[in-house]
Amino acid sequence: MKKLVVLTGSGVSSESGLKTFRDSGGLWEDYDVMEVASYAGWTKNRDLVLRFYNERRAQLKETMPNEAHTGLVDLEKKFDVSIITQNVDNLHEKAGSRNVLHLHGILTRARSTGDPSLVYDIGYNPIRPGDTCEKGFQLRPDIVWFGEAVPAIEEAASITSHADIFVVIGTSMVVYPAAGLIEYVPKHAPIYLIDPNEVTVPVYRHIHFIREKAGKGVDVLKEILIKESSS
Ligand code: APR
Repeated sequence: MKKLVVLTGSGVSSESGLKTFRDSGGLWEDYDVMEVASYAGWTKNRDLVLRFYNERRAQLKETMPNEAHTGLVDLEKKFDVSIITQNVDNLHEKAGSRNVLHLHGILTRARSTGDPSLVYDIGYNPIRPGDTCEKGFQLRPDIVWFGEAVPAIEEAASITSHADIFVVIGTSMVVYPAAGLIEYVPKHAPIYLIDPNEVTVPVYRHIHFIREKAGKGVDVLKEILIKESSS
């Protein structure tokens, strides 16, 4: 089976009703990113940060995967699919994808502020000021904030370096190190990009641009890949 590696961003969840970050109407229009998604923001106003992620988590409980997520699950019948996502939602897992790596963490886990090895599944429950780990340290969302290291990036680079086909869906490709993963795609592997808007890809390579929203775009991709694998 060929290895299909998919890098997803917030655009893949847009048709499920979750906001992207940088589009018009995106989350970073309503919130100051450094206030809610940085360690400095956390030390300045912990309650605001907790509220921001508690709201996202509560919304996620009511949110269902869309055709893009389920289309990627279908592709597992023909390909060895690995998903690398920048998203903190769990919609790939809800859809049934088997191999999902979260680069920026996930909303349904909390982490100790005093011992990062202490991570807890919290489902869709809120984290409140005063909620602590077993060592007594305040819990925070298990999310990678701006300025923090991305522990999963080495594994993501290794997965990418084994791709036979690489697909990018719904990311503006401006946030590093995630955007830099494309440099690890082997020369023989074609790169497909699904996005309704223009995206500047930070690599000097031919890109097969499928200019569609994620749901339709994954359908188009499936047709192309199935036609190519049978020719
Ligand atoms: N289908 C596919 N793509 C879409 C759709 C859609 N229905 N709607 C919007 N998009 C595209 C936009 O055109 C844009 O290219 O999704 C992309 C969203 O880009 P950003 O808002 O920058 O989100 P993303 O790339 O996921 O952000 C990366 O930045 O703030 C941080 O940690 C956060 O993981 C996030 C990272």
